[in-house]
Amino acid sequence: MRGRPRPARISGSRGEGRYRVLEIEAGEIASKAQPGSYVMLWLPGVDEIPLAISYARESFFEVLVGPPRGEVGMILHRIPVGSLVGVRGPFGNPIPPQGSRVLLIGSSHGISYLRFFAEKYVDRIYGAVLLNEDLDPPYISRFREIGVGVSVAKSGDDIIKLFRSMMGDIDMAVICVKEDLGRRLAEMLIAKNIKGYLCVERPIKCSLGICGACDLGIWRTCLEGIFLEASKILGTEYGLWTRDRSGSRVPIEGSVESPGLPQRAVERDPRFSINIAGIELPNPLMNAAGCGVSGSILYRFALEGAGAVVTKSIGVEPRKGFRGPVAIEDPEGIYMNSLGLPNPGADRYVLEIRDAKKAGVPVIASIFGKNEEEYVEAAKKLYIAGTDALELNISCPHTEFQMVEEVPELVRNIVRSVKAAVKIPVFVKVSINSDYMEVSRRAIEGGADGITAINTVRGYAYDPVFRRPVMGSPNGYGGISGPSLKPIVRRVIRDLRSEFDAPIIASGGIDSARDVIELLHLGARGFQICTAIAYKGFSVFKEILEDLRRYIEANRVKSLWELIR
Ligand SMILES: Cc1cc2nc3c(=O)[nH]c(=O)nc-3n(C[C@H](O)[C@H](O)[C@H](O)COP(=O)(O)O)c2cc1C
Repeated sequence: MRGRPRPARISGSRGEGRYRVLEIEAGEIASKAQPGSYVMLWLPGVDEIPLAISYARESFFEVLVGPPRGEVGMILHRIPVGSLVGVRGPFGNPIPPQGSRVLLIGSSHGISYLRFFAEKYVDRIYGAVLLNEDLDPPYISRFREIGVGVSVAKSGDDIIKLFRSMMGDIDMAVICVKEDLGRRLAEMLIAKNIKGYLCVERPIKCSLGICGACDLGIWRTCLEGIFLEASKILGTEYGLWTRDRSGSRVPIEGSVESPGLPQRAVERDPRFSINIAGIELPNPLMNAAGCGVSGSILYRFALEGAGAVVTKSIGVEPRKGFRGPVAIEDPEGIYMNSLGLPNPGADRYVLEIRDAKKAGVPVIASIFGKNEEEYVEAAKKLYIAGTDALELNISCPHTEFQMVEEVPELVRNIVRSVKAAVKIPVFVKVSINSDYMEVSRRAIEGGADGITAINTVRGYAYDPVFRRPVMGSPNGYGGISGPSLKPIVRRVIRDLRSEFDAPIIASGGIDSARDVIELLHLGARGFQICTAIAYKGFSVFKEILEDLRRYIEANRVKSLWELIR
């Protein structure tokens, strides 16, 4: 029930002040839901959004919909009982029931998580402090019915006062409030050494850990949250800035500068170091473009072992990307995305490059555009920001920009203009959605320093119940990624190597040392990983490096590169 939305019936709807509680029949999700869980709810043709589960019993679960603002909120307030919606989940880590005197602190729809926790662990609850700004907090009467004492606070400062007066009596806090207040509470918890979990509401888009839209500092909140320990979030931008759907930072009023990430230095490893088109990499593994947006998530890829990091594809203007679903896994192991190139735009992305540079490995900026001028503008801005190389994404298969790869002459002209504008290596990323040999030929003619192959493969997902495409992109297309690309990538690398001398970076389905060794023999010199980070976790980089180390030793050679001499 996690990979793609399944039809489920709305079996109940009731008002909770200006909020609305929807009851949804979905036994599989209900049986697995825990306090801390959320679902992705799909209104076909509109969007897919995350909603906290506020209660679950054998055959159904409940969600709380905020006051009727925005398109999805308005529809959900009016949706008739008996209607079908799409749901998938449950997602999110359970909130650990560790204390015996747990204080719940919440505001607005975040109170749904607290209600589920209180229903399940009522004997552990010390009490609840709920914020009433201009609306009565939801579920007050339910808390009282099950025997949880509720204090209603009128402002954030009130909450701080109440919290201070209760701190001596509690041994854990579960908090779901706005980030500026949450940060103050987290600091207080840490100062008094009290365990606390805070709900982190970043823009969750894919819920599979594949797109990186929701990352906070180095945490992907869809998989590692939604509740994170107070000690984990204080080192991040939580409470300092949030992000909108494009990934742009949105400063929180009154917040201070972030302490920032420490500068790392990565040493050369003679077994793995390689120079690709003039850039020195401590090892040939990289993340592929698109599985992380912020500078801090790129930093984490490097911490986990990546020898270079590649940014999300960045354009001249900010883009919010497409409506959901933006990523599905169906069937298991087959991934498809239609993020729609969300990005903060080149000007704002400079801040992320600054963070990524602290990782101590080369930073490759992926850029896209619809013509030479846009590529050149983005390229110049990110070059000045300090990137070490550029990767031109000319091959996104589900957006209006796919036409670039369909016109090989345009590719040549774009590469030529970008090369003239910057003094760093330029790679061109091709796909099998066009004639990749012709496109690569033109790219090299234009001066490309290397080819990255391949981008995702254009695909389509259809829902027979709703009688419409699943993906939220305007044309219904998505890009297929993950293990199913392995044989295709081998073919493409082999074809490219047979004709071109330029360095080739492989991308597509890579998740093991075996893939790296095969692609190395076929001609690749760099290896990018994207989807495997979702299903194997960040440790995929270290696992592959460890297995390569063993392979090198077993073959009695000094370096990976000796294997192909
Ligand atoms: C969620 C997601 C977002 C992606 N975004 C981009 C992007 O912005 N630019 C790009 O060139 N490729 C993008 N890709 C393609 C990947 O960089 C990679 O080439 C492709 O997924 C194949 O590798 P994999 O099988 O390891 O995922 C994206 C892929 C995924 C799954």
